[in-house]
Amino acid sequence: MNRVNRYIGIDLGTSSVKLLLLSENGIDKTVSRDYKVSYPAPNYSEQNPDDWYDQTVCALDELLEDTDRTSIKAISFSGQMHGLVMLDECKNVIRPAILWNDGRAVREVDYLNNEIGRDFLLKHTGNIAFAGFTAPKLLWVKNNEPENFSKISKIMLPKDYLAYRLSGEFATDVSDASGTLYFDVSNRKWSDEMLEIIGIDKTKLPVVRESCEVIGNIRRELANKFGLNDDVKIVIGGGDNACSAIGTGVVSDGECNISLGTSGTIFVETNNHNYDKNSAIHAFCSASGKYHYLACILSAASCQKWWVENILNSDYDISGMEQYLGKNDVIFLPYLMGERSPINDPNAKAIFYGMTLSTTREQMSLAILEGVAMALRQNIEIIRLLGVNITKSKICGGGARNRLWLKIIASALDIVLEIPELEQGGALGAALLAMNRPEIAKQFYRVREIIKPDKALAEYYDKKYRNFKNIQNKII
Ligand code: XUL
Repeated sequence: MNRVNRYIGIDLGTSSVKLLLLSENGIDKTVSRDYKVSYPAPNYSEQNPDDWYDQTVCALDELLEDTDRTSIKAISFSGQMHGLVMLDECKNVIRPAILWNDGRAVREVDYLNNEIGRDFLLKHTGNIAFAGFTAPKLLWVKNNEPENFSKISKIMLPKDYLAYRLSGEFATDVSDASGTLYFDVSNRKWSDEMLEIIGIDKTKLPVVRESCEVIGNIRRELANKFGLNDDVKIVIGGGDNACSAIGTGVVSDGECNISLGTSGTIFVETNNHNYDKNSAIHAFCSASGKYHYLACILSAASCQKWWVENILNSDYDISGMEQYLGKNDVIFLPYLMGERSPINDPNAKAIFYGMTLSTTREQMSLAILEGVAMALRQNIEIIRLLGVNITKSKICGGGARNRLWLKIIASALDIVLEIPELEQGGALGAALLAMNRPEIAKQFYRVREIIKPDKALAEYYDKKYRNFKNIQNKII
């Protein structure tokens, strides 16, 4: 009798961890667990790495209920990128992780971009400094928490910490390492020049692997606890955007995936390592063995979460919004956590503009969705200028559940959107990496629906985009 082999993909997001069980026949089950982000000061964003581990273990328990546990062959990861996790000599976490959307390292970014210089950074890493990247945060710890800096024995990215807790091995992968700014993206190795500037010895960094490489076996105690075979492989996996690309079958030159999670990203696969000379867009390694452009807006679904949970504090009724489609004078600039691509300004603030005494909450709610679409459009325009003519894209992430939002994005960006059956591309991408078959991504990817741009709405958004840019130019 042919036995079924199963693989687990763990997507370590910002608001939750999502686990997916995949067999060669398809997806068996998904499970998720939430955790908190703390914002201890304006522009600060932190999480406790132990929460990631604890919630992953709880979710694993549920995922494996009613499953033949001996069928599990490998586990892999998709992780929120850029987060700084530091361990001491005893392998304990030194301080809370500083996340990808943390904007505290303003001075360090200025030092790197202007004193070390953009040309040097581009030459050695293929990117310039953004506050969310790991190198400026390490410099921030060095400058502001020297005692913590002196205790560092290992520096890790979020998913690599999980991989370490599950396997006991210190490793990372090329796609996630790309977002550190001490990684030479073009040559897929740590950059000695950058490590010297930051003052970090290479022994403190994990070994770098391609995303589908095995780094070890599951720790024996965990295998026993969960009733798994002790030769279950731990595959290192990739950054969340690189994994979502695998999960949505975006593996060929010029293909695009938009992810609408806490952040909003536009991922474009490229065969070669090219970079944007103006550096508004990142150029990273892909989990497929190739490269990609990545634009990241820091607040996407988080704008809607903030608006509904913190401000409206009531149920969200989209029906009232649709009547204002194509005639909403309210404009929203979505800079609730500063902004990364393309304006690179951690101090940018969100703005509502254009209200009068007759403005309704539905118009303001709609403006939130439109503002995120406008910020994505600004990045699509830059990617188009780089010579990649994007006319269609996959779209995934929790925000992709909102049909009205998808209609707005398709029209504002003037592209055809393909909605996959599974909205969480990252966990599927990680499971495919665990299977070590990223090339079969397209086989697992199923389109649920296609959303085309609406011509009249696209024209309306052309005008609205010009207004969005005018306000941006005035305030930033
Ligand atoms: C990408 C980025 C975000 C995080 C979110 O550069 O910072 O997409 O990876 O999880």
